[in-house]
Amino acid sequence: MSLQPTESIWHNGALVPWQQATVHVLAHGLHYGSAVFEGIRAYSTPNGPVIFRLEDHVRRWLQSARIYRIPMPFSAAELEAACCEVVRANGLTNAYLRPIAYRGLGGLSVSPVDTPVEVAIAAIEWGAYLGKDALKHGVDAAFSSWIRPSSQSTPLMAKASGHYLNAQLIADEARRNGYGEGLALNAHGQLSEGAGENVFLVENGVLETPPQSASVLRGVTRDTVMVLARDLGLEVTEETIARERVYVADEVFLTGTAAEITPVRQVDGIALGEQCPGPVTCALQSAFFGLFDGSTPDRHGWLCPVGAESPEASAPDGRAEPRVCASV
Ligand SMILES: Cc1ncc(COP(=O)(O)O)c(C=O)c1O
Repeated sequence: MSLQPTESIWHNGALVPWQQATVHVLAHGLHYGSAVFEGIRAYSTPNGPVIFRLEDHVRRWLQSARIYRIPMPFSAAELEAACCEVVRANGLTNAYLRPIAYRGLGGLSVSPVDTPVEVAIAAIEWGAYLGKDALKHGVDAAFSSWIRPSSQSTPLMAKASGHYLNAQLIADEARRNGYGEGLALNAHGQLSEGAGENVFLVENGVLETPPQSASVLRGVTRDTVMVLARDLGLEVTEETIARERVYVADEVFLTGTAAEITPVRQVDGIALGEQCPGPVTCALQSAFFGLFDGSTPDRHGWLCPVGAESPEASAPDGRAEPRVCASV
């Protein structure tokens, strides 16, 4: 899917025209992958556009920066406000936000000492990540010949650009072999995650997902699904999962900001369950997308209204004031 340019991108503290949001060819981040980023979605709702779990995404972004010792030159509040500003400024309602902090032009030594940190936030229109029909009819997945690295070599709790070389190998191998997405095992041969998604299995009505120690990113959507499932009265466990458990699961689905909740139809050519999406996947999709059409109440305070231009925008008297992002 090619990118549709928007009017502006937030770059180092201000909105700049799309064409001017550029990076030097000798930027450290470009050569060594020293960048930390997020993927965040904004959704249209009956009460105006909202950013989903903005605070949690910005928190993870800052944690990724801390793990890689990248000094972030903006506070969480400033970054949250900037995310809202870039959605508003481009007149978007449904959007995918791509915040990134990267080491810029400094030295060329691998050690990043003295490289300045630059920060950008883009918001674009982006449809279903794994294809138009994937949310409805599922994707066919395959285990990759590439494995997820251990956290002893790359700290996978950080969402860092360099980690995505491994993800590219997994995703590209799957697509070249005719699959919608690749699944990875970890260094111990257990289920880890998809190239850009966490994985859930459903067996006998119980949801299972690999723990963080299985070399997975601590996904915000993964957490959302666990909370929504428990709200629906379902049991959820985080467990080490052997590869063959995937083949015998009643349902398998992928979660991610981009992929949302995407059912998996078959893995390595083995059809899963009796129907796709299965009943648990359907119930979770309804609960998740219901957050944006109002049919699921926002019990957990996950929807951050993008707000009006004015930072003073506030609720009418007598109502709890919504968390509206201010302008920076
Ligand atoms: C490797 C990987 N795992 C899992 C996820 C899902 O994370 P989230 O739900 O926070 O988008 C992503 C997407 O960001 C990812 O790239």
